[in-house]
Amino acid sequence: MNNEKLLVIGHRGAMGYETENSLASVQKAIDLGADMIEIDVFKIKSGEIVVFHDEKLDRLSNAPGNIEDYYIYDLSKVILEGNHKIPMLQDVLKLIDNKVALNIELKGKNTADRVNFILNNYIEKRGWSPDNFVISSFNWDELKDMRELNPDIAIAVLTEEEVLENAVAMAKELNAVAVNPWFKTLTPEKVKRVQDEGFKVYTYTVNEPEDLQRMVDFGVDGIFTNYPDRIQ
Ligand code: G3P
Ligand code: CA
Repeated sequence: MNNEKLLVIGHRGAMGYETENSLASVQKAIDLGADMIEIDVFKIKSGEIVVFHDEKLDRLSNAPGNIEDYYIYDLSKVILEGNHKIPMLQDVLKLIDNKVALNIELKGKNTADRVNFILNNYIEKRGWSPDNFVISSFNWDELKDMRELNPDIAIAVLTEEEVLENAVAMAKELNAVAVNPWFKTLTPEKVKRVQDEGFKVYTYTVNEPEDLQRMVDFGVDGIFTNYPDRIQ
């Protein structure tokens, strides 16, 4: 039995209520009491780290093309549904103001260097706790880059695979804190096996009350959800 508090992780902020990865969504997750907030990031052509989930802009805006091909001047003019703008990582950091933990999922290519630079700025110059950050990715090469740059930052290994052995091996190699599996692939035995190896299990993305209850019963350590208020 896992006695530590279950971590409620607001998925793309609280995307069940606000436009995903917008500042409003991050604020909503804070308001709903999430313990940690998850955002997705890309590095764009002019070098900034921006908060967005898709490679292409068209699902959430009427702008064309790939986000990584944009300069910040043009991207700052893109309007998302609900009249939101695409935030930069620093906008989210300013908003959370060291008050809630942040899980940064590296979605794009070559993000580790710049993300590490930005976080170090907050940790070293503003005294933020490094424990407030977790870096995750399905792209394990990005995680390897991050670990090489920063031996201390917490890393979580995202996986879609049914079998978790590869993710556990990668978590060992990276000295990670967690393995993050898709909830539909989980069983109580798998959760225990990963935990017995010394890693937390943060599962994504769980929204329906009966699924949330099942994951709690399985003994996971954290749950990504679009509705942070649905977990008591
Ligand atoms: O980190 C959990 C979850 O966000 C991974 O899937 O597609 O929502 O980024 P996705
Ligand atoms: Ca994500």
